[in-house]
Amino acid sequence: MTHPVADAAPASRADADLAIRTHGLVKVFGDNRAVDGIDLAVPAGTVYGVLGPNGAGKTTAVKMLATLLRPDGGTAHVFGRDVVKEADAVRSRVSLTGQYASVDEDLTGTENLILLARLLGHSKADSRSRAGQLLEAFGLTAAAGKQVKNYSGGMRRRIDIAASILNTPDLLFLDEPTTGLDPRSRNQVWDIVRAVVAQGTTVLLTTQYLDEADQLASRIAVIDHGKVIAEGTKGELKASVGSGSVHLRLRDAGQRPEAERILAESMRATVQLDPDPVALTATVDGSGTDQGAAEQAARALAALARSGITVDSFALGQPSLDEVFMALTDKKGVTA
Ligand SMILES: Nc1ncnc2c1ncn2[C@@H]1O[C@H](COP(=O)(O)OP(=O)(O)OP(=O)(O)O)[C@@H](O)[C@H]1O
Ligand SMILES: [Mg+2]
Repeated sequence: MTHPVADAAPASRADADLAIRTHGLVKVFGDNRAVDGIDLAVPAGTVYGVLGPNGAGKTTAVKMLATLLRPDGGTAHVFGRDVVKEADAVRSRVSLTGQYASVDEDLTGTENLILLARLLGHSKADSRSRAGQLLEAFGLTAAAGKQVKNYSGGMRRRIDIAASILNTPDLLFLDEPTTGLDPRSRNQVWDIVRAVVAQGTTVLLTTQYLDEADQLASRIAVIDHGKVIAEGTKGELKASVGSGSVHLRLRDAGQRPEAERILAESMRATVQLDPDPVALTATVDGSGTDQGAAEQAARALAALARSGITVDSFALGQPSLDEVFMALTDKKGVTA
């Protein structure tokens, strides 16, 4: 199987358009190579997803890029500035919302945002109005006067993100912004991320959730054991594990064994029999053939028709990112 792995650095894209560029980035803890030679090229103005299971090295990589941790090898540039040699220049353009965040539990939402805005050098009046705007935008107006320690997990995550965009950063690191949130709170955070990007900020988002990367990111790097094991657009990643699956429902359950045989032959597909006795699913391995999945599926339908098998319904879908992730990491159960 071939994956669009190694070349995270398309030669045609000028480095000037990149928010982040790393070459062989390494961080070692004792004899643990937590980040083991990562190459990244993150286009400015997009959401870039870094997807990986627990312990993959996501937070470690983010901390190096945000100048909080010194790399042990390789190089990393943020908007063309070296994260070690030009750390101040990098810091002035980035903001980080950590997995374990930094607002003060004993202060209210409003007090936290005003305090942070003041620390960033805003006037009192500016700080107050910016805090009010953000609390409203994040649906926290009603909770503005409550101490943050009384916030729910979802409210807490939203105030963390609000705090990190008090000054609109050019690059925002969101480290697992929705881990542990309920679906409704996740959706609220996703809307916030979309709004932040619409204002021109580049977002580097780490996540263990495939659907989150699918929803938000234009490109994704899949990391495991400190290495990038695949990189590309969602479409490229999906195409790398086969071009799709074809779901069929037959008129007559008695024709299913024959249909199974024909699909396996004409599409060279792996065919699964669904619990529903008239349904079956063929997974097409697009790699190694010139034909697209749609063309293969059309040939299979024609072959079924020639054999007198009536197909009641038919759907052609791409594999899910879940399937991609499992195929790449080759282990079940690490996904969201
Ligand atoms: N300060 C540290 N000292 C020693 N080892 C560390 C340190 N920070 C991280 N590690 C180790 O480095 C590896 C990568 O950890 P990291 O926190 O980057 O993973 P992650 O992808 O962010 O995982 P998670 O999804 O659980 O947040 C792990 O094996 C972890 O135990
Ligand atoms: Mg982490």
